[in-house]
Amino acid sequence: MSEAHEEDEEDINPFTMLLAGEDEDGDPKRNTRLHASPGKPQLEQHYVRSVDAALVIRQLPSQGLSFQLWPAATTLVTLLDDHRRDPSKSPLSPILSATSDGPDRVPLSILELGSGTGLVGIAAAVTLGAIVTVTDLPHVIPNLQFNVDANSAALTANGGTVTVAPLRWGEAVDVELIGREFDVILASDVVYHDHLYEPLLQTLYLLLGGRETTSFVMAHLRRWKKDSAFFKKAKRAFNVEVLYEDSPSEGSRIGVVVYRITGKKIRKSNVVSANKA
Ligand SMILES: C[S@@+](CC[C@H](N)C(=O)[O-])C[C@H]1O[C@@H](n2cnc3c(N)ncnc32)[C@H](O)[C@@H]1O
Repeated sequence: MSEAHEEDEEDINPFTMLLAGEDEDGDPKRNTRLHASPGKPQLEQHYVRSVDAALVIRQLPSQGLSFQLWPAATTLVTLLDDHRRDPSKSPLSPILSATSDGPDRVPLSILELGSGTGLVGIAAAVTLGAIVTVTDLPHVIPNLQFNVDANSAALTANGGTVTVAPLRWGEAVDVELIGREFDVILASDVVYHDHLYEPLLQTLYLLLGGRETTSFVMAHLRRWKKDSAFFKKAKRAFNVEVLYEDSPSEGSRIGVVVYRITGKKIRKSNVVSANKA
């Protein structure tokens, strides 16, 4: 086997991995592909049991990977749904309860990076009643906004809000515009091209740097051996722990893993030794 083939451990087609059902029976309580003609926009419905709401997402596969829903996104949506139904059994509880409980509870403020279709951010807003900002590259913004608007009824019914904004990884000015006062940062399937590792890490330094209070919750499906280079680099600057592991889907050896990444506190001794160096 060539080196290139070894690297490409799994060639994932997000469409074949995604949905529990692909019928068009219109049942609002199923995950359903509503329209799927080749080259045309695809509408998919995702039922969120905890709030009895069907979210609808438009995908534009002909426009590239930013316009498709990826497998790790559905894992995060399921975790958010399950958390809302029973926080006592949820792997997200240490993060979401620590930041949202108490008598003076204010809505969680959440940022999503590389949102793609926006399903994760929209699901976070409806399940947590959170104030969410979904972000991506500028050319992805119109479809993101379309999907947020398409789910306005579910958002209003559940007290969540979603704002759409461009945020290019590695661009400090974009983080300055958005701010860094978020309780939680979410992302799914954002570690894939190695040239994007460094810009993504730079954005994480800007958002999490020096503090342990904001958690970056990242769902990841490992496809290539090279993915481990991202985690190696991340571990140098951040605390990285596994929150949850999905069982592999049929025909696959690896399932989606959800990580919690936080900034390492800057300790006085580190600053002193850095100054001496
Ligand atoms: C594999 S897709 C995952 C999309 C979505 N999170 C999901 O799980 O369905 C990766 C996403 O990262 C975004 N992305 C790639 N490079 C980026 C960059 N430099 N700055 C911001 N977003 C970027 C892409 O546009 C795309 O939406």
